[in-house]
Amino acid sequence: MILPITQYGDAVLRKLCTPITPDYPNLKVLIANMFETMYNASGVGLAAPQIALPIRLFVIDAEPLDEINLKGFKKVFINAQILEEKGDKWAYNEGCLSIPGIREDINRKEQITITYVDENFVQCTETYNSKIARVIQHEYDHIEGKLFVDYLTPLKKEMLKGRLADITKGRADVDYKVKLPKR
Ligand code: NI
Repeated sequence: MILPITQYGDAVLRKLCTPITPDYPNLKVLIANMFETMYNASGVGLAAPQIALPIRLFVIDAEPLDEINLKGFKKVFINAQILEEKGDKWAYNEGCLSIPGIREDINRKEQITITYVDENFVQCTETYNSKIARVIQHEYDHIEGKLFVDYLTPLKKEMLKGRLADITKGRADVDYKVKLPKR
């Protein structure tokens, strides 16, 4: 089932999300719905707050990034914690399904080590680099209540103010179902 995607200005996007346990209701269905919602909106990642749930869950399918080593990179991250970020910062053009129509170059460190449980609650600790690290950092920020626009300079943010306000009011041009913030 395709779920509506929460939009910039929604309080749920600013919550520090909480861990879940294996008995979380209908988790398998929820994960399937998140993938369906993400594919429908042509995203490479989707975090639970983007479907209005403040829990530590995000999904990624990096196939569209078109890198040989990411073919079949489809993963579920539950209760993730980034243990370490290192390397030089590099710029990558980021976008977000909760902030449609805006893309900006964001600087982040090159490598991350992350611990999480997968959809079967098997504990994993892995290190990732470059583009896939970037997608994970972006989604991880969502479960920490952060958005990529938070990294922009005050000047740049000021310049985007009107467009961000438009998104909040549902005036952005989107071709997927959205959930607007309560006013
Ligand atoms: Ni996002």
